[in-house]
Amino acid sequence: MTIVVTTPTGRVGSRAVRLLLQAGVRPRVLARDPARLDPATRELVDVRRGDLTDAAFVREATAGARTVFWADPTPPIGADPVADSERTAAGLVEAARAGDVARVVLLSSVGAELRRGAGHIDALGRIEESLDATGADTLHLRCGYFFSNLAMSLDDLAGGVLPTQFRPERPLAWVDPRDVGDVVAARLLAGDWHGRVVQGVHGPEDLSFARVAEILTGALGRPVRVRAVGDDDVRAALAGAGLPPGAVESVVGMAAGTRDLVPEQPRDVVTTTPTTLAAWAYAHLRPLVDEAVRDGAGSGAAA
Ligand SMILES: NC(=O)c1ccc[n+]([C@@H]2O[C@H](COP(=O)([O-])OP(=O)(O)OC[C@H]3O[C@@H](n4cnc5c(N)ncnc54)[C@H](OP(=O)(O)O)[C@@H]3O)[C@@H](O)[C@H]2O)c1
Repeated sequence: MTIVVTTPTGRVGSRAVRLLLQAGVRPRVLARDPARLDPATRELVDVRRGDLTDAAFVREATAGARTVFWADPTPPIGADPVADSERTAAGLVEAARAGDVARVVLLSSVGAELRRGAGHIDALGRIEESLDATGADTLHLRCGYFFSNLAMSLDDLAGGVLPTQFRPERPLAWVDPRDVGDVVAARLLAGDWHGRVVQGVHGPEDLSFARVAEILTGALGRPVRVRAVGDDDVRAALAGAGLPPGAVESVVGMAAGTRDLVPEQPRDVVTTTPTTLAAWAYAHLRPLVDEAVRDGAGSGAAA
């Protein structure tokens, strides 16, 4: 019963690997740099070294698997990120179509159900469709907005500002990626699901960015206020940083295309996961923001 895990050094993948080890399973992990696995973990897994953008490697390294966990590793920085992500999944799709992979657990996203108009999230919708067409059993985990995205705003947070392209007052699902890893591992280990399954992973509660700013004010021990950022401002910043037009639209579209979305999967006991933003932010974000403050970040931003 071989279980293959991609992105074993990532936030979700590393948690899934840990739980598989604790369940007594020896997973096969696909890593481009096995040295990035912690040494104790490395001894307990079968490592295949390779790049997930190498379709031949993925095709060969997933063959014979009962279940594969697939996370799209493609950063949205190329001229056509959706096409890049589809190309990266091609080796897995081919292995599933050939009957060499029985089941796939896909790390998908809220918004993938739209199929179009949600920037780089569209890639996950396309991968869902490609995998569904293979005849393999597929589970699409449509995850909410990862808490860890906040770590992309350290300089602003150090200055007391939480910028967002979403509507500040509109709640959305926020989730700890570690909790996503828990659900991934549970599904990799479960033997009794078949066909096509779609499951939300929605975190403990829906939160607006305005509410997130309040929670961060408590967890970080410093005042944080939300600041709405327009799509065109984000476009200009990304273009100014040198991203090609396709990548800019891919990033902008993720929020622009989902800011009014009601997820296809309702919040319920299956989609709700335990870790609160307050607990996560205190443990993981506060040290990073404190460090950014020590480094002098955000000193002009709070005015
Ligand atoms: N952020 C969100 O709000 C959100 C919401 C829903 C779904 N998602 C999905 O979550 C996924 C990211 O999960 P995460 O946060 O757990 O990832 P992460 O912590 O950012 O880690 C990225 C992982 O991808 C690996 N990787 C990157 N490029 C690779 C390549 N070319 N070949 C092999 N491995 C490669 C990295 O390996 P190294 O250690 O070698 O760098 C690392 O293990 C994405 O697919 C995204 O679509 C995100």
